[in-house]
Amino acid sequence: MRRFRADGWRSGAMGAHICSGMAGAGDWPGEGVWLGSGSMDVLIHLFVALHIIGIASLLGGFLTQMKAMGQGTARFVPAMLHGALTMLITGAVLVGLNQADDQPVNNIKIGVKLALLVVILGLVYVKRDEERVEKGLFGLVGALTTANVFIAVLWT
Ligand code: HEM
Repeated sequence: MRRFRADGWRSGAMGAHICSGMAGAGDWPGEGVWLGSGSMDVLIHLFVALHIIGIASLLGGFLTQMKAMGQGTARFVPAMLHGALTMLITGAVLVGLNQADDQPVNNIKIGVKLALLVVILGLVYVKRDEERVEKGLFGLVGALTTANVFIAVLWT
């Protein structure tokens, strides 16, 4: 959803924050006196960056095990668990920040992403000490993570 304001178009997507950097706290009727829009934008972008570092850790950990997965000897490396936890924390913070900044949040999209991440996190956590994870289960975590990336960027 997009709204027009005197300093440009704004929407819930990350890129839209860039054009609203000039407004300060309470510059807009009904906006409330939170952080100035500029500071809030920086904070949101900071957490989007941390969110992406979480994806890198989760998906990167998976990719390092691809060859082993083919041989049935893959394991959930710590980077995958830490990445999944980072996704959960930064995702929840992003929802809060966007709501505080009066940005629309797509609850269905977030709900679907959260549901997939709960499955990912559950599997990675429960099997974290197993030295060999069966091919199908390991592949499922990679597939769900990839699905979440596409949901995040294509569901607008
Ligand atoms: C494996 C799991 C996840 C992946 C791969 C993922 C991926 C992404 C990506 C690539 C972005 C930036 C793209 C954009 O802003 O258009 C993003 C943004 C965001 N994510 Fe996630 N995410 C995951 C889990 C979560 C969870 C669990 C939550 C909430 C509890 C969440 C909440 C958000 C929010 C609020 C944004 C910024 C606004 C938006 O674009 O909807 N994400 N995510």
